[in-house]
Amino acid sequence: MQRLIIKGGKRLCGEIRVQGAKNSALPLLAACLLADGRTVLKHCPELSDVFAACRILNELGCKCSFRQHRAVTDPTSAEGYRISEELMLQMRSSIVFLGAVLGRTGRCELSYPGGCELGPRPIDMHLAALRQLGVRICEEHGRISCTCPKGIKGAVIDLPFPSVGATENIILAAVLAEGETVIHNAAREPEIEDLAGFLTACGADIRGAGCSTVRINGVKKLHGCEYEVMSDRIAAATYMAAAAATGGELGLLGVRCEDIHAVTAVFEEMGAAVYCHGNSIFISCTRPLKAVGRIGTMPYPGFPTDAQAVVMAALATAKGSSMMVENIFESRYRHVDELVRMGADIKVSGRTAVIQGVKKLCGANVRAHDLRGGAALTVAALGAEGVSSVGNVQYIDRGYEQIERVLESVGADIHRAF
Ligand code: UD1
Repeated sequence: MQRLIIKGGKRLCGEIRVQGAKNSALPLLAACLLADGRTVLKHCPELSDVFAACRILNELGCKCSFRQHRAVTDPTSAEGYRISEELMLQMRSSIVFLGAVLGRTGRCELSYPGGCELGPRPIDMHLAALRQLGVRICEEHGRISCTCPKGIKGAVIDLPFPSVGATENIILAAVLAEGETVIHNAAREPEIEDLAGFLTACGADIRGAGCSTVRINGVKKLHGCEYEVMSDRIAAATYMAAAAATGGELGLLGVRCEDIHAVTAVFEEMGAAVYCHGNSIFISCTRPLKAVGRIGTMPYPGFPTDAQAVVMAALATAKGSSMMVENIFESRYRHVDELVRMGADIKVSGRTAVIQGVKKLCGANVRAHDLRGGAALTVAALGAEGVSSVGNVQYIDRGYEQIERVLESVGADIHRAF
């Protein structure tokens, strides 16, 4: 088991060029299947989840190679429509391939992505929406077989909840469909805009991405293009939390401030100074941190569930009592017990966590149970007194590119132990 060994208490100072967004790169790689030619995705993060997406493309017959943050795909001979259970389980968000494979081949066979570290991850909204687009779906023995006897046809879809993955799957299935598709109550996350931006650069006709109503006019074909993946707003939030936990000052280059406004507002409430300039954010945390009122995770533009754990790690040493309410996922507090092992005073009741700030956290042996929880333990360890070991780094590697190198470059005492 790989571990991060962190000697806490070093102030982080310097600049970080923020990696490409995992949650954008994955749907973009799936979308590459829909183009008729070669596509180059620049600023693509080199992460285990992204490599898993490349393996899915390969299994479908689509060429996919990676070099220096450029993913090059060529789906010319991608005739495949089956995704093996093994690959589906490697990455929980593999379900986003469903819409793309359907759009390309008119059929798809895959397994459920399964439950995950965050609790059950149903895909009922994805399937109901695809049925409305004319997809016939047969679910048997954990496999899902989809066919489109009359082709994919545009429809008006009202999502019961603005699911990110369902919105992406509908867009992917609808871009080459016959007629217009309208999604009401669509997810508004910046990654949806990035997907629409990429597809539009390939020749798609999509309006309203980033708003609650998205209109997709089916086109006959898409061509390849070169596109730059947006920067990772959650990685940026994580490094902001690391700055806060260590009383540091960081410049985060390449992130759009409006994409993480809900998070920067919380750090400001904690007493940090945050400046946005162009595509960069500067955070300075030279004063002691203050507790904040209630933070509830919400769909964008609300406070992101993916930033809940890392912000909690920073709040663990903020003066006073803060409250976090997790509204998106059922089981997203598995980092709490580990933070408590480091001396945090956090009590969870159902979806609510009350964080009573303590003066100092102490280094300890802890283990990640999921991606963002692992990042939170890293943040806590950076600010703690003494040495910590954060186990199960493979979870962190799913979403952070060489986290130890990035943190070391801004002054952390951190290394990976094998
Ligand atoms: C995406 C992100 C994930 C983030 C989440 C919420 C990617 C690869 N992952 O996940 O990092 O935490 O958005 O911002 O982009 N739900 C259903 N039925 C469905 C679909 C969703 O009940 O068919 C529920 C989920 O269980 C969850 C909520 O809706 O409680 C939000 O899920 P969704 O927005 O779909 O998240 P993902 O796309 O899976």
